[in-house]
Amino acid sequence: MNRSFLTVLGIETSCDETAASVVRGPADAASLERGEIISNIVASQIDDHAPFGGVVPEIAARAHLSSLDAIIARALEEAEITLEDVDALAVTSGPGLAGGLIVGTMTARAMAAVAGKPLVTINHLEGHALTPRLVEEVAFPYLLLLVSGGHTQVLRVDGVGDYTRLATTIDDALGEAFDKTAKLLGLPYPGGPHVETAALKGDPVAFKFPTPLTGKGFEDTLDMSFSGLKSAVRRAVEQADPVPLADICASFQTAVAKVLKDRLERAMDTFDKPSSLVVAGGVAANKALGDQLRALAANKGWHWVAPPPALCTDNAAMIAWAGLERLRLELVEGDAGIRPRWPLDKDAATRIGGGRKGAKA
Ligand code: KG4
Ligand code: ZN
Repeated sequence: MNRSFLTVLGIETSCDETAASVVRGPADAASLERGEIISNIVASQIDDHAPFGGVVPEIAARAHLSSLDAIIARALEEAEITLEDVDALAVTSGPGLAGGLIVGTMTARAMAAVAGKPLVTINHLEGHALTPRLVEEVAFPYLLLLVSGGHTQVLRVDGVGDYTRLATTIDDALGEAFDKTAKLLGLPYPGGPHVETAALKGDPVAFKFPTPLTGKGFEDTLDMSFSGLKSAVRRAVEQADPVPLADICASFQTAVAKVLKDRLERAMDTFDKPSSLVVAGGVAANKALGDQLRALAANKGWHWVAPPPALCTDNAAMIAWAGLERLRLELVEGDAGIRPRWPLDKDAATRIGGGRKGAKA
């Protein structure tokens, strides 16, 4: 590649955010230089789904269809470029809800064909996994904690396309556990931010909630389980009158932090030497958890990377960046259509449930 910079238009429609973004970054694959987000438009459908307490696939697909063209136009307009100026388009082709993936990939395919530009199809999880390199100079390998409404994974990232899943949830995803806890307490959807706010006024050790799969007897697994925690919250709610909402939220976060720290510390110990610990996904926006994980990283001499909340939750800048990383390595696979189920680590066993709510990532 003889140009020093590449410009990629990213498109994301895998769940309940319709998003488009223009990202520029070095064409040299060996460069550690971060990317530049020229525009980043995200239209959230939260208000459309909130009355149902979760994402409704049909509503999501219709909303993507009606707004995607305008979102893409805005992303190009804010970047002050036209389609002619981009080097490639990148689109999420899985995992996610089929309806939304179809809208995104068909649109991207048509635009790429018309403009005569390459199309890079991206795994949504890879978008999350490579985000730290968009915002900072982060070298491989690093350890990634991906915690969202649909996924809870600890991944070792050795390179673009080279991911090893060290741990996953065997039941609820962590964001789902936050959302279900919020629901039990009568807090609105999505519950994570509400639980975090309520917890600020609570006693973090008022309740001793369970931390399944940690401690003695579980040395062989790094997997996590959050459904027991949710049941314990339900019992606490049923037994108290009035319900000590803030104490329950704070104690819930204490149990979650304990599980995450236990898992990450052991995952860090599988590395030869200190590296970078990166968090991504909607739950990574939680400051109380972030503070504890940052302290863990510092204790172990690791570099801590927490992308800003807007890049932790679903967005198209991460898809554009993943496209750019693939383009400059010439790791562009043929357009294989949509892949609603698409694990990042092909060798990792599928877990029952596996934290897939619909297919949110
Ligand atoms: O990554 P994301 O925006 O969407 C996908 O799941 O793909 O993550 C949304 C999840 C929701 O479950 C939401 O409750 C949770 O992230 N979340 C939080 C916080 N902000 C969002 N959980 C805990 N604390 C937060 N501050
Ligand atoms: Zn996601």
